[in-house]
Amino acid sequence: MSLFRRKSLDVLIAEGGDEARGLKKALTAVDLISLGVGAIIGAGIFATLGAATAGGSGLPPAGPGVAVSILLTAVACGFCGLCYAEFASLVPVAGSAYTYSYATLGELVAWIIGWDLVLEYAVGNIAVAISWAAYCRQLLLGFGIEVPAWMATDYRSTVLAARAVAESGVASLSPEASVAYQAHLNHPILFGIPIVCNLLSVFITAAITWLLVIGVKESARFNNCVVVLKVLTLLFFIAVGALYVKPSNWHPFFPGGVRGVWTGASLIFFAYIGFDAVSTAAEECKNPGRDMPRGILGSLIICTVLYVAAALVLSGMIPYTKLQGVADPLAAALTYVQQGWAAGVLAFGAVIAMTAVLLVFQLGQPRILMAMSRDGLLSPWFGRIHPRYRTPHVTTILTGIFVAFWSAIANIEEIVQLTNIGTLFAFILVCIGIMILRVREPGRPRKFRAPWVPVTPVLGIGMCVVLMAGLPMLTWIRFLLWLVAGLVIYFLYGIRQSRLHKD
Ligand code: ALA
Repeated sequence: MSLFRRKSLDVLIAEGGDEARGLKKALTAVDLISLGVGAIIGAGIFATLGAATAGGSGLPPAGPGVAVSILLTAVACGFCGLCYAEFASLVPVAGSAYTYSYATLGELVAWIIGWDLVLEYAVGNIAVAISWAAYCRQLLLGFGIEVPAWMATDYRSTVLAARAVAESGVASLSPEASVAYQAHLNHPILFGIPIVCNLLSVFITAAITWLLVIGVKESARFNNCVVVLKVLTLLFFIAVGALYVKPSNWHPFFPGGVRGVWTGASLIFFAYIGFDAVSTAAEECKNPGRDMPRGILGSLIICTVLYVAAALVLSGMIPYTKLQGVADPLAAALTYVQQGWAAGVLAFGAVIAMTAVLLVFQLGQPRILMAMSRDGLLSPWFGRIHPRYRTPHVTTILTGIFVAFWSAIANIEEIVQLTNIGTLFAFILVCIGIMILRVREPGRPRKFRAPWVPVTPVLGIGMCVVLMAGLPMLTWIRFLLWLVAGLVIYFLYGIRQSRLHKD
C-alpha cells in the first residue's frame, strides 16, 4: 500500500508557502488564451508539420490531408485539457501534474508522471532546440553568413546521407540531407574523431540555461509581445503563401490514406504540447469555472484555425514530396516559390517564437525535478537553490546539459516521437485520475469541473491511445525503456528515501 501513499493537501499548501496560498486572482479568459497560445506555437508548426505532411523514414505521408490530422489532434487535446483543468483546480497549489497526482493518486503514479514529464519538457526541448538551429541557420544565410554544415547537423544524419548518395546519387537528397552530406564531406577531425554536431542548438540551450540560472523571468508583457509575434508570423506565412497556392498540389489530398492522416496526427500532436500550461494557472484565475474552459478551448481553437490554414497553404505551395527531411518547411516553401525575402522574415519570427518555447520548458523542467527532490524521490542535491540568484541552479544546469547534449547529436523526428508518446501517456494518466477522484472524493471542492465526466475523460483516453498507436515501434520501445528505468530508480531509491515514507 505504501506505493499509493498520498501527500496531504494541508502539507502541500503549507509547503507552497504564501506564494501558493496567496496567488493573486487576476487572470481573465483572454490572459489564459494568451498563455496557451504562447506555450503552444513553436517547433511543432514550424518544423514537425513538414514531417507529418511528407512522411518518410518508414512513415506514410499525410499529404495535404494533414489538415485533417490537425483537427483530430485538436479534439483529443480538448478532451484532455478539460480533465487537466479539473485536476489543477482540485489541488489548490501552483504546480504540475506531478504535484496534483501526489496528493490524489499516490506516490507511485506521481513518480511515473514526474518521470514521464521529462519526456514532455526536456526531451521536447531537444526537438525545439534542433528546429531553432535549422531556422537560425536559414536566417543567418539571409544575412550572407553560412554556418558550416558540420556545426548544424548530427553525425548519424551524415552517415545516412552518405549511404543515400552511395545508393541513389546526390540528386536524391532532401535539403536537410544535403547539409548532412556536406558535413560528411567536410568536417574537422579531433584525435581521430570526426566532429559533426549541432553547435547552434548547443549555443541556444546554453544561453537559455544561463539566463535561467541568473534568474531572468519572463514578464507578462514579454509573453504578450511574443504571442502577438507568433500569431503574426503564421498569418504572414498564410497571407504570402496563399498567393502561390497551386490547387494541383492538393491532388491527391490523401496520398497516404487513413494511415497517413493517423500518423500525421500522432506527429503533429507535438504542435499542441504546452496547452496544459493553461490549466496550471487555475489558482490565479478570477473565475476559473467559466474562464478555464474558455482559456483552454479558446487557445486550442485559435491555434487550430492558424494550423489548418498554414497546412493547407503549405501543401498548396509545394508538392508534399519535396518536404521530406526538411527541418524548416515553412521557410523552405517560401524559398521554393522564390520569395527568399519572405523566408527570411518567417525565419526571424520562428526563431523568436521558438526561443520563447525553449524558455518556458527549460523553466518548467528544473522546478518539477526540484519538487521531486524535495519529496525525497530524488537526491536532495537536485533541490539545491543558488545562494545568490535564488534559482534551482543544479536542476537548471543539469537540464541544460541534457538538452544541449542530445540536441547536438539527435535526429529531430525521433525526438518528437518520443516526446509525443510520453506526453500522451501523461495525459492518459490525468484523464484516469479525474475519473478515480470523482468516485473517491466526490465532495472535495473543485474550482472547475470538467463537463460530461466520464464521457470526456474516456474520449480523451481513447484518442490518446489512438495517437500513441500511430507512432513507430522503435518509439514504443524507447518509451518503455524510459519507464522501466524510472521504475528501477523508484524502487532502488525513492520508495525508501521518500519523505512520506520517512515521516
Ligand atoms: N508545442 C510546442 C512547440 O511546438 C512544444 O514547440
